[in-house]
Amino acid sequence: MNRAEKEQYLRDYELLKKQGKPFFPYAVMKDSTMALGPQADPTSTTYTPRPDWYFFFLFEVLRVLKPPYLVPLATIGIPTIAMVLLFLLPFYDRGPERRPERRPIAMSAMAMTIVVMAFLTYKGANAGPPTTVDLQVPKQYEAGKLVVGQSACLACHKIADSGNGTLAPDLTHIGSRIPRAAILRSLVAGPSIMPSFKSLGQKKLNEVANFLSYLK
Ligand code: HEC
Repeated sequence: MNRAEKEQYLRDYELLKKQGKPFFPYAVMKDSTMALGPQADPTSTTYTPRPDWYFFFLFEVLRVLKPPYLVPLATIGIPTIAMVLLFLLPFYDRGPERRPERRPIAMSAMAMTIVVMAFLTYKGANAGPPTTVDLQVPKQYEAGKLVVGQSACLACHKIADSGNGTLAPDLTHIGSRIPRAAILRSLVAGPSIMPSFKSLGQKKLNEVANFLSYLK
């Protein structure tokens, strides 16, 4: 850019700048309008975290793999192995054949990858929220299971594969440990850090107690 061009550029820039709109309030206004939505609630336990759709397959792998020692293998190991295999492809696939029908191994590997990723993506997209107890129970205990899932019990307690279970006793076999009446008493009293769930009302408390005492 020579001197004349540079001056021309600076003149044009000045002109354009005069026609433009200042950052405040225009851009600020637009940004704040975009940000309008329900107010964030840091105490909400009903928020369902979801990755973007193209990560659903990894998300699903993480969801079905429960043992912690398998998690690094699934999230770092398998994708890394796949990437390395892809990078090394020109070195180990030295065959001169290019027609797809003459490359059964490559084609079936590709088809399998697509099918598996599509299946995992579908499963991940339809996965239930973390506020449900992942457990098959007879119909009469479904109501209590639902209340337990929605009442943030899983923030402290573990039930089978659901919940954290670091803060409070594991409830997976609570029915064989304490009688139904004791479960009800715990729910109403709220021992130690556990809040009282009296406000759920007698009907829901009974449903929860039925469900928990079924967990033998
Ligand atoms: C803030 C954490 C927290 C939440 C939320 C919570 N609990 Fe608890 N819960 C505890 C702790 C801690 C104990 C053990 C208290 C103790 O033994 O001193 C406990 C004890 C219990 C017990 C008695 C367990 C036993 O082995 O005697 C039951 C039953 C129970 N909780 C059910 C529930 C249900 C059902 C919900 C949801 C409606 C719930 N809890 C929500 C923390 C929590």
